[in-house]
Amino acid sequence: MNSKNFYIETYGCAMNFADTEVVNAILIEDGMNPVLSAEAADVVLINTCAIRENAETRVWNRLKELRSLKTVNTSLTVGVLGCMAERIKDQILEQEQLVDIVVGPDAYRDIPRLLAEVDDGRKAVNVLLSLEETYADIAPVRTVSNGVNAFVSIMRGCDNMCSFCVVPFTRGRERSRPMESVLGEIKQLCDEGYKEITLLGQNVNSYKDGENTFARLMYEASQVNKEVRFRFSSPHPKDFPDELLHIIAEQPNLCNYIHMPAQAGSDTMLERMRRPYTREQFLELTDKIRAIIPGVSLSTDIIAGFCGETDEEHEGTMSLMKEVGFDLAYMFAYSERERTLAYRKFEDDVPEEVKKRRLSEIIGQQMAIQEERNRAEIGNRHLVLVEKTSKRSDAQLQGRTDTNKMVVFDALDFKPGQYVEVEITDCTSATLLGKPIKLSSITEFANAVAVA
Ligand code: SAH
Ligand code: SF4
Ligand code: F3S
Repeated sequence: MNSKNFYIETYGCAMNFADTEVVNAILIEDGMNPVLSAEAADVVLINTCAIRENAETRVWNRLKELRSLKTVNTSLTVGVLGCMAERIKDQILEQEQLVDIVVGPDAYRDIPRLLAEVDDGRKAVNVLLSLEETYADIAPVRTVSNGVNAFVSIMRGCDNMCSFCVVPFTRGRERSRPMESVLGEIKQLCDEGYKEITLLGQNVNSYKDGENTFARLMYEASQVNKEVRFRFSSPHPKDFPDELLHIIAEQPNLCNYIHMPAQAGSDTMLERMRRPYTREQFLELTDKIRAIIPGVSLSTDIIAGFCGETDEEHEGTMSLMKEVGFDLAYMFAYSERERTLAYRKFEDDVPEEVKKRRLSEIIGQQMAIQEERNRAEIGNRHLVLVEKTSKRSDAQLQGRTDTNKMVVFDALDFKPGQYVEVEITDCTSATLLGKPIKLSSITEFANAVAVA
């Protein structure tokens, strides 16, 4: 047992945030107390991301800051968790001479033992990846939470080996968490009053637990509580089952929003990226999604300036994005990662300024598309789940539509966790502004739409 105070700072994707909640549970079980700042902690853990160079740069900078904290508090223990720990454990231990423990994503159960080694004066490392670990028996502890939105991890790792991506190397082989364990956590969250649950995996449509598929899991989740919304992230465009689309269309509490990472828009580029679909197949899939789920919104991930990218391939990405008209996009300049196929086989040969120029063209076009799509929402009514007070004004609330669009409106007497029917009155490229009509519920709103 260990009665120290700990603080975990999390970088990277939602999966890392979910992992932090698993680590919270492990440390609390060991007797430790979560605190809300590094300054108040005896043990500071940084849960890191390795997806792009700048994700790692942020962590190096943060470690420098922690070095000065350690000069004040000499007994402070500093640990690095997550994808960067997995990728460059030795560098982390050597370069900074500050970090005491390094723990990869599959070794979190070992943290109490590793901390005990540090107390004995040693540095401690465990970055072993596992074929089985899903932390299925651990109930995550959500120390930083608005009480409305929660993430639930349904699988770990990734077997896709997209040529640009480091995730298969930092998180290991793909494995699914048993459905019973996922549904158990969902029930618990519903009982605790959470209103929106996002199921997480790098490639959710390959979820498999015996006969149970991802479509089945989503259906079962939707039945746990019909007044709780469910989302998921991310599916892979290569194997999107029709069954899932129909289930989303039929169940009012499965959100009409799908994140569909395209990455690029030309067949030659998709092939170099090892994305096993063509532009045509991607477009057919988005058409099908829109036909089966009316009003669905779509988002995507795009990489600019991948190895060997020609002007024509860049134009292909631009035109794909225009043709689909995504409601939201996460857009990145390619960042070379060691060990990946691209690192071994291709040259990172698009000059930095060309990458930047192409990325800003992509972003510029996307902002215009979003503004236009948001403008088309004016006059529509949406069911908004209130998340919190708006960043700009205490007199306003913010929340999201079923289609994942952020809406800001006057707070009146409404509160986080409530579903409010809102009429959209104005917008920017990022946010909708609305007028609250009345308190509502998923069932009530769905019935009203069905009648109208
Ligand atoms: N499994 C998820 C993606 C996780 S990484 C999926 O397939 O949807 C999130 C995004 O980061 C990717 O979709 C990709 O667009 C981007 N990305 C991954 N590796 C990258 C790299 N080396 N350089 C730039 N962007 C990258
Ligand atoms: Fe990376 Fe591709 Fe796996 Fe996503 S599907 S995590 S982009 S390898
Ligand atoms: Fe980053 Fe690891 Fe997620 S590399 S994006 S934290 S899976």
